[in-house]
Amino acid sequence: MTRGSDISGFYRLSQEERISVIADFLGLKREEIPLPHPPPPLPLENSVGYFPVNLGIANYFLIDGKDYFIPMATEEPSVVAAASHGAKIARVGGGFKTYVGEQLMLSQVVITEAKRELDLAQLTDVVSKVADSQMPSVVAAGGGFRGIESEKKGKFLVIKLWIDPADSMGANTLDRVAETLAPLFEEATGGKALLRILSNRVTRRIARAEVAIPAEAVGGSDVAARIAEASEFAELDEDRAVTHNKGIMNGVTALALATGNDTRALEAAAHSYAAKDGKYSPLSTWKFDGDKLAGRIELPVPVGVVGGSVKSNEVAAFCLRLLRVSKASELGRVMAAVGLAQNLAALMALVTEGIQKGHMRLAARTIAVAAGAQGQLVDIVADELIKRGQIRVDVAKKILESMNQGKRDA
Ligand code: MEV
Repeated sequence: MTRGSDISGFYRLSQEERISVIADFLGLKREEIPLPHPPPPLPLENSVGYFPVNLGIANYFLIDGKDYFIPMATEEPSVVAAASHGAKIARVGGGFKTYVGEQLMLSQVVITEAKRELDLAQLTDVVSKVADSQMPSVVAAGGGFRGIESEKKGKFLVIKLWIDPADSMGANTLDRVAETLAPLFEEATGGKALLRILSNRVTRRIARAEVAIPAEAVGGSDVAARIAEASEFAELDEDRAVTHNKGIMNGVTALALATGNDTRALEAAAHSYAAKDGKYSPLSTWKFDGDKLAGRIELPVPVGVVGGSVKSNEVAAFCLRLLRVSKASELGRVMAAVGLAQNLAALMALVTEGIQKGHMRLAARTIAVAAGAQGQLVDIVADELIKRGQIRVDVAKKILESMNQGKRDA
Protein backbone atom coordinates (compact mmCIF):
# COMPACT_ATOMS: atom_id res chain seq x y z
CA MET A 1 0.00 0.00 0.00
CA THR A 2 1.25 3.50 -0.81
CA ARG A 3 2.28 5.36 2.29
CA GLY A 4 1.58 9.01 3.08
CA SER A 5 4.11 11.49 4.40
CA ASP A 6 3.43 10.73 8.09
CA ILE A 7 6.28 8.26 8.35
CA SER A 8 7.85 8.01 11.74
CA GLY A 9 11.61 7.56 11.38
CA PHE A 10 11.74 8.76 7.73
CA TYR A 11 14.99 10.46 8.72
CA ARG A 12 16.42 7.11 9.81
CA LEU A 13 16.03 5.49 6.37
CA SER A 14 18.97 5.31 4.00
CA GLN A 15 19.01 7.67 1.01
CA GLU A 16 17.91 4.86 -1.34
CA GLU A 17 15.12 3.80 1.04
CA ARG A 18 13.85 7.38 1.16
CA ILE A 19 13.88 7.60 -2.64
CA SER A 20 11.96 4.35 -2.87
CA VAL A 21 9.30 5.70 -0.44
CA ILE A 22 8.98 8.72 -2.76
CA ALA A 23 8.79 6.50 -5.88
CA ASP A 24 6.08 4.46 -4.16
CA PHE A 25 4.21 7.63 -3.14
CA LEU A 26 4.20 8.90 -6.72
CA GLY A 27 3.63 5.50 -8.35
CA LEU A 28 6.95 5.78 -10.23
CA LYS A 29 9.79 3.37 -10.95
CA ARG A 30 13.15 4.11 -9.35
CA GLU A 31 14.71 4.96 -12.73
CA GLU A 32 12.05 7.64 -13.28
CA ILE A 33 13.42 9.64 -10.36
CA PRO A 34 16.36 11.90 -11.35
CA LEU A 35 18.12 11.59 -7.98
CA PRO A 36 21.07 11.58 -7.42
CA HIS A 37 21.52 13.69 -10.48
CA PRO A 38 24.37 14.09 -12.98
CA PRO A 39 25.03 17.79 -13.60
CA PRO A 40 23.79 19.22 -16.92
CA PRO A 41 26.29 20.90 -19.31
CA LEU A 42 27.92 23.93 -17.73
CA PRO A 43 26.40 27.27 -18.70
CA LEU A 44 28.67 29.70 -20.58
CA GLU A 45 29.17 32.01 -17.62
CA ASN A 46 32.77 31.58 -16.53
CA SER A 47 31.65 28.33 -14.90
CA VAL A 48 34.19 26.15 -13.21
CA GLY A 49 31.81 23.62 -11.71
CA TYR A 50 28.76 23.16 -9.53
CA PHE A 51 28.25 24.06 -5.92
CA PRO A 52 26.56 21.17 -4.11
CA VAL A 53 23.59 21.93 -1.87
CA ASN A 54 21.69 19.29 0.06
CA LEU A 55 18.28 18.35 -1.32
CA GLY A 56 16.23 17.03 1.59
CA ILE A 57 12.61 16.03 1.83
CA ALA A 58 10.50 17.16 4.76
CA ASN A 59 7.53 14.97 5.65
CA TYR A 60 4.35 15.17 7.76
CA PHE A 61 2.95 18.13 5.83
CA LEU A 62 -0.84 18.13 5.74
CA ILE A 63 -2.05 21.23 3.92
CA ASP A 64 -5.75 21.80 3.21
CA GLY A 65 -6.28 18.08 3.74
CA LYS A 66 -3.63 17.10 1.14
CA ASP A 67 -0.54 15.16 2.09
CA TYR A 68 2.81 16.57 0.91
CA PHE A 69 6.45 15.60 0.89
CA ILE A 70 8.31 18.93 0.70
CA PRO A 71 11.56 19.14 -1.30
CA MET A 72 14.03 21.57 0.28
CA ALA A 73 17.42 22.62 -1.10
CA THR A 74 19.54 24.28 1.56
CA GLU A 75 23.09 24.47 2.80
CA GLU A 76 21.95 24.87 6.43
CA PRO A 77 21.87 21.65 8.46
CA SER A 78 18.71 21.06 10.52
CA VAL A 79 16.33 23.12 8.34
CA VAL A 80 14.70 20.03 6.82
CA ALA A 81 14.50 18.21 10.16
CA ALA A 82 12.96 21.30 11.75
CA ALA A 83 10.37 21.68 8.99
CA SER A 84 9.29 18.03 9.42
CA HIS A 85 9.14 18.53 13.18
CA GLY A 86 6.94 21.63 12.85
CA ALA A 87 4.67 19.85 10.34
CA LYS A 88 4.35 16.78 12.56
CA ILE A 89 3.10 18.97 15.40
CA ALA A 90 0.80 20.95 13.10
CA ARG A 91 -0.67 17.65 11.91
CA VAL A 92 -1.97 17.00 15.43
CA GLY A 93 -4.13 20.11 14.97
CA GLY A 94 -5.40 18.91 11.58
CA GLY A 95 -2.60 20.47 9.53
CA PHE A 96 -2.46 23.84 7.79
CA LYS A 97 -5.29 25.81 6.24
CA THR A 98 -4.10 28.12 3.49
CA TYR A 99 -5.50 30.95 1.39
CA VAL A 100 -4.53 32.99 -1.67
CA GLY A 101 -6.28 35.90 -3.32
CA GLU A 102 -5.43 37.81 -6.49
CA GLN A 103 -2.08 36.99 -8.12
CA LEU A 104 -0.82 40.32 -9.42
CA MET A 105 2.71 41.50 -10.10
CA LEU A 106 3.81 45.04 -10.88
CA SER A 107 5.93 46.29 -13.77
CA GLN A 108 7.26 49.86 -13.87
CA VAL A 109 8.02 52.16 -16.78
CA VAL A 110 9.77 55.26 -15.44
CA ILE A 111 9.63 58.32 -17.70
CA THR A 112 11.75 61.46 -17.41
CA GLU A 113 11.20 64.83 -19.06
CA ALA A 114 7.50 64.14 -19.61
CA LYS A 115 5.90 67.08 -21.39
CA ARG A 116 2.30 65.92 -21.19
CA GLU A 117 0.10 64.14 -18.65
CA LEU A 118 -0.93 60.59 -19.52
CA ASP A 119 -4.57 60.08 -20.44
CA LEU A 120 -4.95 56.64 -18.88
CA ALA A 121 -8.62 56.22 -19.82
CA GLN A 122 -7.74 56.71 -23.46
CA LEU A 123 -4.65 54.47 -23.35
CA THR A 124 -5.96 51.51 -21.40
CA ASP A 125 -7.44 49.64 -24.36
CA VAL A 126 -4.38 49.74 -26.54
CA VAL A 127 -2.02 49.06 -23.58
CA SER A 128 -4.12 46.03 -22.64
CA LYS A 129 -4.01 44.66 -26.21
CA VAL A 130 -0.28 45.20 -26.68
CA ALA A 131 0.50 43.78 -23.23
CA ASP A 132 -1.59 40.65 -23.78
CA SER A 133 -0.03 40.13 -27.22
CA GLN A 134 3.33 39.81 -25.44
CA MET A 135 2.18 36.94 -23.22
CA PRO A 136 -0.07 34.55 -25.15
CA SER A 137 0.72 31.52 -22.97
CA VAL A 138 0.04 33.54 -19.80
CA VAL A 139 -3.29 34.70 -21.25
CA ALA A 140 -4.11 31.12 -22.29
CA ALA A 141 -3.45 30.04 -18.69
CA GLY A 142 -5.95 32.61 -17.38
CA GLY A 143 -3.59 35.52 -16.67
CA GLY A 144 -2.79 38.72 -18.53
CA PHE A 145 -2.94 42.51 -18.27
CA ARG A 146 -5.07 43.71 -15.35
CA GLY A 147 -4.60 47.46 -15.01
CA ILE A 148 -2.56 50.63 -15.40
CA GLU A 149 -1.87 53.49 -12.97
CA SER A 150 0.48 56.45 -13.07
CA GLU A 151 2.13 58.47 -10.35
CA LYS A 152 4.42 61.51 -10.24
CA LYS A 153 7.52 60.96 -8.07
CA GLY A 154 9.48 64.21 -8.14
CA LYS A 155 10.74 64.67 -11.70
CA PHE A 156 9.79 61.10 -12.60
CA LEU A 157 6.54 59.85 -14.02
CA VAL A 158 5.99 56.23 -13.00
CA ILE A 159 3.64 54.09 -15.06
CA LYS A 160 2.52 51.00 -13.19
CA LEU A 161 1.33 47.95 -15.08
CA TRP A 162 -0.51 45.27 -13.10
CA ILE A 163 -0.23 41.80 -14.59
CA ASP A 164 -1.48 38.37 -13.56
CA PRO A 165 1.34 36.05 -14.65
CA ALA A 166 -0.82 32.92 -14.09
CA ASP A 167 1.45 29.98 -13.25
CA SER A 168 4.77 31.63 -14.05
CA MET A 169 6.75 33.75 -11.64
CA GLY A 170 6.36 36.48 -14.23
CA ALA A 171 9.70 38.31 -14.26
CA ASN A 172 10.46 37.75 -17.96
CA THR A 173 6.88 38.50 -18.95
CA LEU A 174 6.68 41.70 -16.92
CA ASP A 175 10.03 42.95 -18.20
CA ARG A 176 9.04 42.19 -21.80
CA VAL A 177 5.70 43.98 -21.45
CA ALA A 178 7.37 47.06 -19.93
CA GLU A 179 10.02 47.17 -22.67
CA THR A 180 7.42 46.73 -25.43
CA LEU A 181 5.13 49.44 -24.08
CA ALA A 182 7.82 52.01 -23.23
CA PRO A 183 7.90 53.66 -26.73
CA LEU A 184 4.13 54.07 -26.58
CA PHE A 185 4.44 55.91 -23.24
CA GLU A 186 7.36 58.00 -24.56
CA GLU A 187 5.22 59.11 -27.46
CA ALA A 188 2.20 59.82 -25.28
CA THR A 189 4.21 61.92 -22.79
CA GLY A 190 6.90 63.36 -25.05
CA GLY A 191 9.40 62.05 -22.45
CA LYS A 192 12.10 59.38 -22.28
CA ALA A 193 11.88 55.95 -20.69
CA LEU A 194 14.59 55.59 -18.04
CA LEU A 195 13.65 52.18 -16.57
CA ARG A 196 11.42 49.35 -17.80
CA ILE A 197 11.41 46.56 -15.24
CA LEU A 198 9.22 44.62 -12.85
CA SER A 199 9.11 45.62 -9.19
CA ASN A 200 10.22 43.04 -6.64
CA ARG A 201 7.88 44.66 -4.15
CA VAL A 202 4.95 42.25 -4.18
CA THR A 203 1.83 43.48 -2.44
CA ARG A 204 -0.89 41.75 -4.45
CA ARG A 205 0.31 38.15 -4.66
CA ILE A 206 -0.04 37.06 -1.07
CA ALA A 207 -0.44 33.64 0.55
CA ARG A 208 -1.65 32.98 4.08
CA ALA A 209 -1.44 29.85 6.23
CA GLU A 210 -3.00 29.13 9.61
CA VAL A 211 -2.80 26.35 12.14
CA ALA A 212 -4.36 25.69 15.56
CA ILE A 213 -2.56 23.15 17.70
CA PRO A 214 -3.55 21.63 21.05
CA ALA A 215 -1.06 22.82 23.69
CA GLU A 216 -0.03 19.24 24.56
CA ALA A 217 1.37 18.82 21.03
CA VAL A 218 4.01 21.49 21.68
CA GLY A 219 4.87 20.16 25.14
CA GLY A 220 2.13 21.70 27.28
CA SER A 221 0.57 25.05 28.18
CA ASP A 222 3.78 26.51 29.49
CA VAL A 223 5.62 25.98 26.19
CA ALA A 224 2.60 27.20 24.18
CA ALA A 225 2.43 30.38 26.29
CA ARG A 226 6.17 30.96 25.84
CA ILE A 227 5.87 30.56 22.04
CA ALA A 228 3.11 33.20 22.06
CA GLU A 229 5.33 35.46 24.17
CA ALA A 230 8.23 35.02 21.74
CA SER A 231 5.86 36.04 18.95
CA GLU A 232 4.71 39.08 20.96
CA PHE A 233 8.33 40.08 21.49
CA ALA A 234 9.04 39.85 17.73
CA GLU A 235 6.17 42.29 17.17
CA LEU A 236 7.79 44.76 19.58
CA ASP A 237 11.43 44.34 18.68
CA GLU A 238 12.80 44.74 15.16
CA ASP A 239 16.12 43.06 16.00
CA ARG A 240 14.18 39.94 16.88
CA ALA A 241 11.62 40.29 14.05
CA VAL A 242 14.37 40.07 11.42
CA THR A 243 15.70 36.81 12.92
CA HIS A 244 12.16 35.46 13.34
CA ASN A 245 11.58 36.09 9.62
CA LYS A 246 14.98 34.72 8.66
CA GLY A 247 13.93 31.45 10.25
CA ILE A 248 10.70 31.47 8.22
CA MET A 249 12.70 32.09 5.05
CA ASN A 250 14.95 29.12 5.88
CA GLY A 251 12.01 26.97 4.81
CA VAL A 252 10.49 29.20 2.15
CA THR A 253 13.78 29.77 0.33
CA ALA A 254 14.75 26.09 0.49
CA LEU A 255 11.47 25.13 -1.17
CA ALA A 256 11.92 27.92 -3.73
CA LEU A 257 15.41 26.72 -4.65
CA ALA A 258 14.28 23.09 -4.94
CA THR A 259 11.52 24.12 -7.34
CA GLY A 260 13.82 26.28 -9.52
CA ASN A 261 12.39 29.58 -8.31
CA ASP A 262 14.18 32.91 -7.82
CA THR A 263 15.11 32.89 -4.14
CA ARG A 264 16.33 36.51 -4.10
CA ALA A 265 13.03 37.76 -5.52
CA LEU A 266 11.21 35.95 -2.72
CA GLU A 267 13.54 37.26 -0.02
CA ALA A 268 13.30 40.85 -1.32
CA ALA A 269 9.51 40.64 -1.48
CA ALA A 270 9.19 39.01 1.96
CA HIS A 271 11.33 41.55 3.80
CA SER A 272 9.69 44.52 2.10
CA TYR A 273 6.28 43.04 3.01
CA ALA A 274 7.45 42.72 6.62
CA ALA A 275 8.09 46.48 6.61
CA LYS A 276 4.90 47.43 4.76
CA ASP A 277 3.38 49.27 7.74
CA GLY A 278 6.46 51.44 8.24
CA LYS A 279 7.95 49.21 10.93
CA TYR A 280 9.70 45.89 10.31
CA SER A 281 7.36 43.20 11.72
CA PRO A 282 7.22 39.41 11.96
CA LEU A 283 5.55 37.69 9.00
CA SER A 284 3.95 35.21 11.40
CA THR A 285 2.25 35.51 14.77
CA TRP A 286 1.31 32.99 17.47
CA LYS A 287 -1.43 33.36 20.07
CA PHE A 288 -2.32 31.04 22.94
CA ASP A 289 -5.86 31.04 24.36
CA GLY A 290 -5.13 28.59 27.19
CA ASP A 291 -6.20 25.65 25.05
CA LYS A 292 -4.90 25.99 21.51
CA LEU A 293 -1.81 27.61 20.06
CA ALA A 294 -2.88 29.44 16.91
CA GLY A 295 -0.32 30.45 14.29
CA ARG A 296 -0.77 32.60 11.24
CA ILE A 297 1.57 33.69 8.47
CA GLU A 298 1.12 36.03 5.54
CA LEU A 299 3.77 36.56 2.89
CA PRO A 300 4.21 37.47 -0.77
CA VAL A 301 4.77 34.51 -3.10
CA PRO A 302 6.26 35.59 -6.42
CA VAL A 303 6.84 32.02 -7.62
CA GLY A 304 6.05 29.93 -10.64
CA VAL A 305 5.60 26.33 -11.69
CA VAL A 306 6.27 26.92 -15.38
CA GLY A 307 8.86 28.81 -17.41
CA GLY A 308 12.47 29.83 -16.79
CA SER A 309 14.69 27.60 -14.73
CA VAL A 310 11.66 25.69 -13.47
CA LYS A 311 11.45 23.88 -16.81
CA SER A 312 15.13 23.62 -17.72
CA ASN A 313 16.15 21.94 -14.45
CA GLU A 314 15.23 18.28 -14.34
CA VAL A 315 15.53 18.07 -10.55
CA ALA A 316 13.33 21.15 -10.05
CA ALA A 317 10.75 19.60 -12.41
CA PHE A 318 10.88 16.42 -10.34
CA CYS A 319 10.46 18.39 -7.09
CA LEU A 320 7.29 19.97 -8.51
CA ARG A 321 6.09 16.52 -9.47
CA LEU A 322 6.75 15.34 -5.94
CA LEU A 323 4.66 18.24 -4.62
CA ARG A 324 1.89 17.37 -7.09
CA VAL A 325 1.25 21.06 -7.73
CA SER A 326 0.35 22.43 -11.13
CA LYS A 327 -0.64 25.96 -10.10
CA ALA A 328 1.69 28.70 -8.89
CA SER A 329 -0.94 29.71 -6.35
CA GLU A 330 -0.81 26.23 -4.80
CA LEU A 331 2.98 26.40 -4.59
CA GLY A 332 2.51 29.77 -2.86
CA ARG A 333 0.11 28.26 -0.33
CA VAL A 334 2.50 25.38 0.35
CA MET A 335 5.30 27.91 0.84
CA ALA A 336 3.29 29.76 3.46
CA ALA A 337 2.66 26.49 5.33
CA VAL A 338 6.35 25.54 5.16
CA GLY A 339 7.32 28.97 6.52
CA LEU A 340 4.91 28.57 9.43
CA ALA A 341 6.12 25.02 10.21
CA GLN A 342 9.73 26.21 10.16
CA ASN A 343 8.88 29.08 12.46
CA LEU A 344 7.01 26.83 14.90
CA ALA A 345 9.95 24.41 15.15
CA ALA A 346 12.41 27.27 15.70
CA LEU A 347 10.27 28.94 18.39
CA MET A 348 9.66 25.65 20.19
CA ALA A 349 13.38 24.99 20.36
CA LEU A 350 14.20 28.57 21.32
CA VAL A 351 11.77 28.77 24.25
CA THR A 352 12.75 25.33 25.60
CA GLU A 353 16.15 23.68 25.25
CA GLY A 354 17.61 26.32 22.88
CA ILE A 355 18.71 25.89 19.30
CA GLN A 356 22.13 24.32 19.83
CA LYS A 357 21.08 20.97 21.24
CA GLY A 358 19.11 19.94 18.16
CA HIS A 359 21.93 21.12 15.90
CA MET A 360 24.40 19.05 17.88
CA ARG A 361 22.20 15.97 17.68
CA LEU A 362 21.88 16.31 13.91
CA ALA A 363 25.63 16.86 13.50
CA ALA A 364 26.30 13.77 15.64
CA ARG A 365 23.96 11.64 13.51
CA THR A 366 25.59 12.90 10.29
CA ILE A 367 29.04 12.04 11.66
CA ALA A 368 27.80 8.60 12.77
CA VAL A 369 26.55 7.88 9.23
CA ALA A 370 29.81 9.18 7.73
CA ALA A 371 31.66 6.71 9.99
CA GLY A 372 29.58 3.84 8.60
CA ALA A 373 26.76 3.48 11.15
CA GLN A 374 23.42 2.27 9.78
CA GLY A 375 19.89 1.74 11.12
CA GLN A 376 19.54 1.79 14.91
CA LEU A 377 23.30 2.19 15.27
CA VAL A 378 23.11 5.76 13.97
CA ASP A 379 21.31 6.97 17.10
CA ILE A 380 23.38 4.82 19.46
CA VAL A 381 26.67 6.14 18.04
CA ALA A 382 25.31 9.72 17.94
CA ASP A 383 24.30 9.50 21.62
CA GLU A 384 27.77 8.28 22.54
CA LEU A 385 29.44 11.08 20.55
CA ILE A 386 27.33 13.67 22.39
CA LYS A 387 28.05 12.03 25.75
CA ARG A 388 31.78 12.19 25.07
CA GLY A 389 31.49 15.76 23.74
CA GLN A 390 33.55 14.71 20.70
CA ILE A 391 31.54 14.91 17.48
CA ARG A 392 34.23 13.54 15.17
CA VAL A 393 34.35 10.84 12.49
CA ASP A 394 37.46 9.20 13.96
CA VAL A 395 35.75 8.93 17.36
CA ALA A 396 32.57 7.55 15.75
CA LYS A 397 34.66 4.93 13.93
CA LYS A 398 36.29 3.87 17.20
CA ILE A 399 32.86 3.58 18.87
CA LEU A 400 31.60 1.42 15.98
CA GLU A 401 34.75 -0.73 16.10
CA SER A 402 34.42 -1.32 19.82
CA MET A 403 30.74 -2.25 19.37
CA ASN A 404 31.64 -4.73 16.63
CA GLN A 405 34.45 -6.07 18.78
CA GLY A 406 31.96 -6.49 21.65
CA LYS A 407 29.65 -8.46 19.33
CA ARG A 408 32.52 -10.70 18.16
CA ASP A 409 33.57 -11.38 21.75
CA ALA A 410 30.04 -12.22 22.84
C1 MEV B 1 18.47 29.95 12.26
O1 MEV B 1 18.83 29.71 10.92
C2 MEV B 1 17.04 30.41 12.37
C3 MEV B 1 16.60 30.84 13.77
O2 MEV B 1 17.48 31.84 14.27
C4 MEV B 1 15.20 31.39 13.62
C5 MEV B 1 14.66 32.05 14.87
O3 MEV B 1 15.45 32.51 15.70
O4 MEV B 1 13.42 32.13 14.95
C6 MEV B 1 16.64 29.70 14.74
